[in-house]
Amino acid sequence: MPSPSRFLALAALLASATALVPPGRKGVPNAPVPDNTTAPTPDNALIVHTASQVYQKSGPSVDAPPNASIPPTTVTAVDGTLTNTTVADAGSSRRRDAGRLGKRDSGFEKLFDGLPVGQHDASIEGTAYLTYTVVNNATYNVQACLDWCAGINGCVFVNVFYEFNNYLLDFVFSEKSNLKCAAYGDIHTAAEKTNFGGQASYPPGTQCFPFLVGNETIPLTYITQSSGWGLDSLVDPTTPDGYEPVFGPTGGANNAPGYMGFAFIDKYDVDACAQLCNTRGVDPIGGGCAYFNIWRAVVDGLPTTYTCSMYYLVADESTAVNFGQGDLVVTFSRGYSRISVLPDGGFEGYNGCTDFCFTASYSNWIGTSPPSGNWDATIFFYKPSGRSPPAKKLSTIVGTNYVIQVFFLSSFSGAQLEANAKVDILWNGVRVGGTSGFTPAWTFVEAPAVGTGNDTLSFVGGSVLAWTFIDDVFVYAA
Ligand SMILES: *[C@@H]1O[C@H](CO)[C@@H](O)[C@H](O)[C@H]1NC(C)=O
Ligand SMILES: *[C@@H]1O[C@H](CO)[C@@H](O)[C@H](O)[C@H]1NC(C)=O
Ligand SMILES: *[C@@H]1O[C@H](CO)[C@@H](O)[C@H](O)[C@H]1NC(C)=O
Ligand SMILES: *[C@@H]1O[C@H](CO)[C@@H](O)[C@H](O)[C@H]1NC(C)=O
Ligand SMILES: *[C@@H]1O[C@H](CO)[C@@H](O)[C@H](O)[C@H]1NC(C)=O
Ligand SMILES: *[C@@H]1O[C@H](CO)[C@@H](O)[C@H](O)[C@H]1NC(C)=O
Repeated sequence: MPSPSRFLALAALLASATALVPPGRKGVPNAPVPDNTTAPTPDNALIVHTASQVYQKSGPSVDAPPNASIPPTTVTAVDGTLTNTTVADAGSSRRRDAGRLGKRDSGFEKLFDGLPVGQHDASIEGTAYLTYTVVNNATYNVQACLDWCAGINGCVFVNVFYEFNNYLLDFVFSEKSNLKCAAYGDIHTAAEKTNFGGQASYPPGTQCFPFLVGNETIPLTYITQSSGWGLDSLVDPTTPDGYEPVFGPTGGANNAPGYMGFAFIDKYDVDACAQLCNTRGVDPIGGGCAYFNIWRAVVDGLPTTYTCSMYYLVADESTAVNFGQGDLVVTFSRGYSRISVLPDGGFEGYNGCTDFCFTASYSNWIGTSPPSGNWDATIFFYKPSGRSPPAKKLSTIVGTNYVIQVFFLSSFSGAQLEANAKVDILWNGVRVGGTSGFTPAWTFVEAPAVGTGNDTLSFVGGSVLAWTFIDDVFVYAA
């Protein structure tokens, strides 16, 4: 939602024989521009309620084979509705296969012991379970487990335990070991030892077990010596492509205006949040997602879910003041803003005066008029109203898809005269989108573009006695 004090106006061939006072003479709009200044802030009650609905804890199931690949990050809720979808492939950011959640191979310490030999124990069921392997069970082989974890992207915690009476471990899987090593992308505690086994894994009467006939009791699985080893903190994530870090980690989530909604994901994955922001769609008033806040929700002391809150306005640490509600505590909160390759898309760089002034060009934008025109493209500094090509070519990445986002307003001279309003968005001189006709309020428009490494964005248009105001222009990697 533009709250503009500077903007670009496009018009053409102002006929002088009219009572209409043009913007350049400080004319007032025919109808006031609706000013929606009540940009929404997060619905924290809904976030807390949804956190109580999701269940994201797991561990290696009794029949899962070892060494399975780590599943893609899953979205477990969107705006309060439970879902079970994977985050769409994050394109360029997925090309780098390592180091996205961050890796650290030293600094693991024992966080809790297993119960003494001979006693039944329980394995961890916790958030951000990644995968498991089995290690040589000739000894209680913690080191082999930690070495394996060190090669796994995002592994910050392992649970080592024996699982007895598991038919697959005992006779089917090639490793012939019952010493399980489960990797997690979050750090867990002995309070999360909730899987006691108790499952019937041995099929009755198999040829391997002629002694199991008919009515005999099938031995149930049980767990022993379940210990936990981990880092003291989650690894600092790599900044997602197309974003820059704003703050964090802190214990405060943003309570900022321009909130678009939230998603829960099944691990602390900043790339997944970036992808959700990129594909969020638009707020009709505020435009596209420009910022996200990722944080971990700890409920009753246990990691429970990972929140991505999305905003059309860029927030910062000054509004990161939601530390939690009730049993929910905010942890590992970070903010990231989306990078626009267009410098000064809000015309904030124009500082010709403090009250009212206009210019055809300044350092960041150039306004041009056809030979017969005058002031057809004008950059304004004018508090009451405020939304040509930028002066510099845009440094894009060759072959990357971009999305141009812009707000247009064609209401200045009223519905009848503005009916002829028309502005085209040109990318390297080719029309990729635009606006036409009367628009009583700032209207958000998106247009696609492909980077060539050295691109020109321009706005061309205007029509007799119609003005189109332009503000808050962004060019984001799509
Ligand atoms: C302002 O925008 C929000 C959504 O962004 C909407 O819910 C609210 O009704 C709007 N208020 C007015 C006065 O238009
Ligand atoms: C599973 O991974 C472990 C550790 O890397 C390895 O020793 C074992 O051979 C692997 N098993 C299979 C079936 O690939
Ligand atoms: C989500 O969907 C996948 C694939 O369909 C399924 O394996 C998994 O059990 C589902 N998870 C939940 C929590 O429903
Ligand atoms: C090692 O694992 C195999 C396969 O599960 C099992 O048969 C064997 O008893 C285990 N050895 C020990 C010492 O637990
Ligand atoms: C199981 O079956 C055997 C013979 O088929 C019988 O002698 C025995 O009593 C049965 N045991 C139970 C617990 O039913
Ligand atoms: C971009 O284009 C301008 C002129 O259009 C040229 O001077 C400049 O060298 C080009 N830059 C690159 C990186 O191609």
